[in-house]
Amino acid sequence: MKFKEIEKNIFYCGLNDADRVIFDELIPLEHGTTYNSYLIKGSEKTAIIDTMYPPFSEEYLKNLEENSITTIDYIIANHGEQDHSGTIPKLLEKYPNAKIVTNAVCKNNIKEMLLVDDDKFIIVKDADTLSLGDKTLKFISAPGVHWPDTMFTHLLENNFLFTCDFLGAHLPFEELYSKNDNELVSSAKRYYAEIMMPFRPMCKKYVSMIYDINPKMILPSHGPLHNKPSFILDLYKEWTSDTPQNLVLIPYVSMYKSVEEMAFYLKEKLEDKGIKTACFDVIEDDLGDIAMNLVDAATIVLGGSMVLASPHPAIANVAYIANLLKPKAKFASFIGSYGWGGNLFGKLGEILSSLKVQVIEPVLVKGKPKEADYKLLDNMVETIYKFHKEAGLA
Ligand code: FEO
Repeated sequence: MKFKEIEKNIFYCGLNDADRVIFDELIPLEHGTTYNSYLIKGSEKTAIIDTMYPPFSEEYLKNLEENSITTIDYIIANHGEQDHSGTIPKLLEKYPNAKIVTNAVCKNNIKEMLLVDDDKFIIVKDADTLSLGDKTLKFISAPGVHWPDTMFTHLLENNFLFTCDFLGAHLPFEELYSKNDNELVSSAKRYYAEIMMPFRPMCKKYVSMIYDINPKMILPSHGPLHNKPSFILDLYKEWTSDTPQNLVLIPYVSMYKSVEEMAFYLKEKLEDKGIKTACFDVIEDDLGDIAMNLVDAATIVLGGSMVLASPHPAIANVAYIANLLKPKAKFASFIGSYGWGGNLFGKLGEILSSLKVQVIEPVLVKGKPKEADYKLLDNMVETIYKFHKEAGLA
């Protein structure tokens, strides 16, 4: 495959993986993904920025050969996770004089995961530069988006910013550049929700820094390149803001339809009040869709049946993931139904321990919800409306 030239002597040499259905054995992928890699030919030295996911190593190395790349002086590792670093050992076999240029934390990760020798590394710190002759790479330490080892690489002469996982999307592409369409916005939001949202304060910090750098192009390590950087930066500005939307997320699991009845009742009454809702059956619906709504929701209401005196594992799993993703929600509550008892809300509340939310009085029913239970759900709706209004959302 012939490499695509982005600007003179700067090439895209990544690969699409349209068949991949899950990432980290956790995140369902709607469209697959890409592993982006970039080749920069300076007047004196040649560098690769990020490499390739190991199952694609052969194709990647073959492409380098077909594009007559006989020398690589530097392998820039912006991050140690193996979807980007995994082909480094094979690259070093093929180009034995190449040095890995990275920060100390990333070096340690690569050494431990890929068993690379010490003498193969050049360690750089924040703001260090590396000359390729007529091109200069400047390294920007960016821990937390999303690993502690992450850095960005700024190609100064072209004002290109290589942001690694940050500002990416799990979306294969044929044309290099992102388009402002629903598919990309949705993929980028899902990716943000699942990978970057736990680090929202750091994301805000780096979005602001990148606005200041004002790059001509943002080149992430997954998904299309952004030749209009404000498009992705403006989306991140909205997603990372402290203000949620007038939205209630209601994920539920229902063994005998009682919880579902309550969830649907809640949805209808909230919408009557002008509050948006996103209601998901966690058995049938996609976890990624739930994660995307966690980006915006002001209130989360978890609904669950009881199994063996405990929350049903399917809703416990959603609570666990919500807790990991650290959404900006300000309020939370629970609805549930039981046959013979147990501590539904206490256990779900414990799982949500990292969320800084005000808890609204939950509603627990034995068996089917009855008139008195619907009144309690009405009270919940009124409380949510009041809280949203006080927060300036409704
Ligand atoms: Fe795409 Fe954190 O690796």
